[in-house]
Amino acid sequence: MAIIVMTGGTSGIGQVAARGLGTRATLLLGARHPDRARLPALELDLAQLDSVRRFAAEVETRLGSRSIDALVLNAGLSRADVDARTRDGFELTFAVNHLAHYLLARLLAPRLAPGGRVVVTTSGTHDPDERTLVPPPRHARARLLADPALDPALDGDPRAAAGHAYAASKLCNILTVRALRARGLSALAYDPGPTPGTGLARARTPLLRALWWLLGTPLGRLAPRFNSVIRAGEALRDAALGEPAPPRDGYYLRLRRGRLEWATPSRLARDDDARDALWRDSAALVGMAD
Ligand SMILES: NC(=O)c1ccc[n+]([C@@H]2O[C@H](COP(=O)([O-])OP(=O)(O)OC[C@H]3O[C@@H](n4cnc5c(N)ncnc54)[C@H](OP(=O)(O)O)[C@@H]3O)[C@@H](O)[C@H]2O)c1
Repeated sequence: MAIIVMTGGTSGIGQVAARGLGTRATLLLGARHPDRARLPALELDLAQLDSVRRFAAEVETRLGSRSIDALVLNAGLSRADVDARTRDGFELTFAVNHLAHYLLARLLAPRLAPGGRVVVTTSGTHDPDERTLVPPPRHARARLLADPALDPALDGDPRAAAGHAYAASKLCNILTVRALRARGLSALAYDPGPTPGTGLARARTPLLRALWWLLGTPLGRLAPRFNSVIRAGEALRDAALGEPAPPRDGYYLRLRRGRLEWATPSRLARDDDARDALWRDSAALVGMAD
């Protein structure tokens, strides 16, 4: 049976994917509250780098001599400001969405099976051309994202700053996929597209949360630009299992209006200097060599 290691399988898109993967593979799921997860899970709080290291060590123990067929890095959050810091001192959105996953990929990539893959959940918000409601990222500079107070262009409006931080973290996800591929690994970025009804709006106002929930009901299907949580989760499940097989040089798979397509990410996501700088600076932030 295939072995799949996954984050973010306790809610929303990831929960649908994890349920499907749990019946087809041995699933090693990391969760903040394993006792509350609907599937067996190991403790993993992505807001603490030490927890990421402990989780990776526990996965190693469980693997024994076996290898990982897919490493699915799906967990993510979206906030209403950039004020929260992790215990390690990093801005929370950047820390959870990018840095913790970067560390996990670095720690576990050596255990990938031949033909195994890394799947990272990104978002169309990384791309200015998509004109989403979230302000597009200005850059993917790790040190400024880790400590927004250092960023001379930081937006004075907390919500706009939070939007930039979220979109930038999703840009970091694609750059990390490209960096892994540049190191000979099979990796792809999966973008579920706008998928209301998940827990992603939990830090928003009650009104926005209610709207997000409402759009996630069958009523939301009346607006064809939204994907259903089931469809988005099943596509993540399939991507973890290697379906659809990427075309040559394909690494950005997105779901739009219920249809999967291999696409080209934003110009900044294709920037090799940004990719290499992010890898290097992220390594320094987690205390690893490049
Ligand atoms: N929904 C959309 O429209 C949309 C669009 C594009 C991309 N995405 C991406 O899709 C992914 C899944 O999002 P979703 O919409 O399904 O949201 P969701 O329902 O809120 O799921 C987020 C998952 O991340 C986990 N998580 C958050 N913080 C964590 C932490 N500190 N440690 C460990 N796990 C943590 C959550 O665990 P808990 O259950 O413990 O909270 C949950 O399992 C995210 O990467 C998001 O950026 C979503």
